Amino acid sequence: MILIKAGGSAITDKRTPFSIKREALCTLAEELSGSREEVVICHGGGSFGHPLALKYNMVGPIVTKDQMLGVSKINIAMRKLSNIVSEHLEREGCRPFALQSSAIMRADGGKITSFDHELVRDIARSGFIPIVYGDVVYDTKYSFSIVSGDQIMRKLAEYYTNSRAIFLTDVDGLYSSDPKKDREARLIKEMTFDQISSIDAGTTGDVTGGMKGKVDEILQFKGHISEIIVTSLERKGSLTLALKGGNPGTRITRAPSR
Ligand code: ADP
Ligand code: IPE
Repeated sequence: MILIKAGGSAITDKRTPFSIKREALCTLAEELSGSREEVVICHGGGSFGHPLALKYNMVGPIVTKDQMLGVSKINIAMRKLSNIVSEHLEREGCRPFALQSSAIMRADGGKITSFDHELVRDIARSGFIPIVYGDVVYDTKYSFSIVSGDQIMRKLAEYYTNSRAIFLTDVDGLYSSDPKKDREARLIKEMTFDQISSIDAGTTGDVTGGMKGKVDEILQFKGHISEIIVTSLERKGSLTLALKGGNPGTRITRAPSR
C-alpha cells in the first residue's frame, strides 16, 4: 500500500480562502491514473479548512456558539474540497471513493482514538482509491477538534506497516530551513528519521502546525514504515517517480542509504 498525502499547500492556495490549484489536481489525477499501485489518498484542509479553523478559533475545548458554528462550517467546507479532489480523480478514471473522515474516526484531546482503517483498506483492495482528509472530528475531551491529514497519515502507517508514504506539497522536499523565507535553504535529498528533528521547520498560523506539525508526525512514523518521500506536486512527473520507488525530493529512511 502507498499512502499519499496531498497537502493543502499542494492542491489549494492557502492565501485565498476556497481557492484550488486546478493544475496540481489534474497532475495528481493524471499521474495516479498511470499507476497500478494500491494507494490511499489523504488530503489536507488548505484554503478550505485553515482559514475557517483560524476564524472560529478551533483550538482546545469547543464551547462558544461561534466555535460551534465553525465546526459546521468546516464540516461542510471539507466535504466540498473532498468532492473537488474526487471529481478530478474520477475524470481521469481513477475510481476514487471518498470517506468523510469525521464519520470513520473519533479523537480525544486532538488525538485520533478510533479509526475504521479496515474499511479504508477493504476499499483499496476492491480496486478503488479511498480518499480521507484532515477534518473536524468528534472529540471526547474537546467536543470537536481538528485532526490533521498528517496525523491521519501516521495512523495509516501504524495500521499498514508494510506501506510507503509520499507527502506532496508545494516545495521540492524538506530543506534545512523554510525555502520560502531563507535563500540559503538547502534541499536535503536523503535523511534518516533520526535526523529529521534537526530541520528548521519554522512556524505558521495553521492550527495543525504547518511543516512543523508535519515533521513532528513524520518523526513518529519510525518503526512503522520504512520509507517516506516528500516532494512537490507542482513539478510534473515527481509523483510518478515516487510511485515507482524513485526519489524526486527528500527520502526519509531508517538507515542512511549508501
Ligand atoms: P501541506 O499543506 O502541503 O501539507 P504545509 O503548508 O503545512 O504543507 O507545509 C509546507 C510549507 O512548509 C512549504 O510551503 C514551506 O514554505 C514550509 N516550510 C517550512 N520549513 C520548511 C522546511 N524546512 N522544508 C520545507 N518546507 C518548509
Ligand atoms: C487540516 O488538515 C484540516 C482542517 C483544517 C480542517 P492538514 O493540517 O493536514 O491540512 P494542510 O495539508 O496543512 O492544508
